[in-house]
Amino acid sequence: VTVVALVPAAGHGVRLGAGRPKALVTVAGESLLVRAVRGLTESGSVDRVVVAAPTDEVTEVTGLLASFGRAVDVVAGGETRTDSVGLALRAALTALPNTSVVLVHDAARAFMPTSVIRSVVDTVRAGAGAVTPVLPLADTVKEVDATGFVRHTPDRAVLRLTQTPQAFAVDVLLRAHGLSARTSPDDPSRTGRSGAGPGATDDAGLVERRGEKVLTVPGHPHGFKITTPFDLVVAEALAAATAG
Ligand code: CTP
Ligand code: MG
Repeated sequence: VTVVALVPAAGHGVRLGAGRPKALVTVAGESLLVRAVRGLTESGSVDRVVVAAPTDEVTEVTGLLASFGRAVDVVAGGETRTDSVGLALRAALTALPNTSVVLVHDAARAFMPTSVIRSVVDTVRAGAGAVTPVLPLADTVKEVDATGFVRHTPDRAVLRLTQTPQAFAVDVLLRAHGLSARTSPDDPSRTGRSGAGPGATDDAGLVERRGEKVLTVPGHPHGFKITTPFDLVVAEALAAATAG
């Protein structure tokens, strides 16, 4: 069974505001991207990693990941996260056509433990089409209207926060992204944009939209998405606490 992990890392990191792409921001001297990729390679469950890098940073990212050797490929990402995943997916299947399991893992979740990575892979290998790690919520969630009034309070007990890596049987992910397994890399109908439609913030969401099942497994608090300067403070503390 060939397992490939796609790492969307092409975002600008606007909310972090570090003045450069978030994947290249360092915590305890090491970039979020290198940390995320190392988790995947050290899990022992992933054969190849394909990183979608910011268009202007492909060379820098390739250098940053050189020490991983042939286990890691770098491609240019797209306008949206979904586009970046689609581009990495095509590159992965061109390089490794026999791929049967595909993970999608945000570079921004740089501290996800290898146990969760192994868990999502094992769950797909056991027959699930799509798997996402999740956590229960500590906070109560409100749905609000455009004017700021609360519309509704959903039952917290049935809500989960979703994390990555999400893992998929390859055909499930291809369908979710509007890509066909049979389309060749030089098919003229292909463009840089995937057929997934607007607004998806995760790949499991694209699978759900097609009415296909997504299974949840326990995630881990260390797999939080580093999004804001506050998160970077937490990440530095986590790196210090787990160093050595
Ligand atoms: N991502 C990507 N391509 C894009 C946008 C996002 O590969 N066009 C990646 C990011 O690099 C990140 C992951 O998707 O690893 C999750 O996105 P997010 O946390 O929103 O990161 P950014 O888009 O970089 O941050 P922001 O939205 O604050 O600009
Ligand atoms: Mg973003």
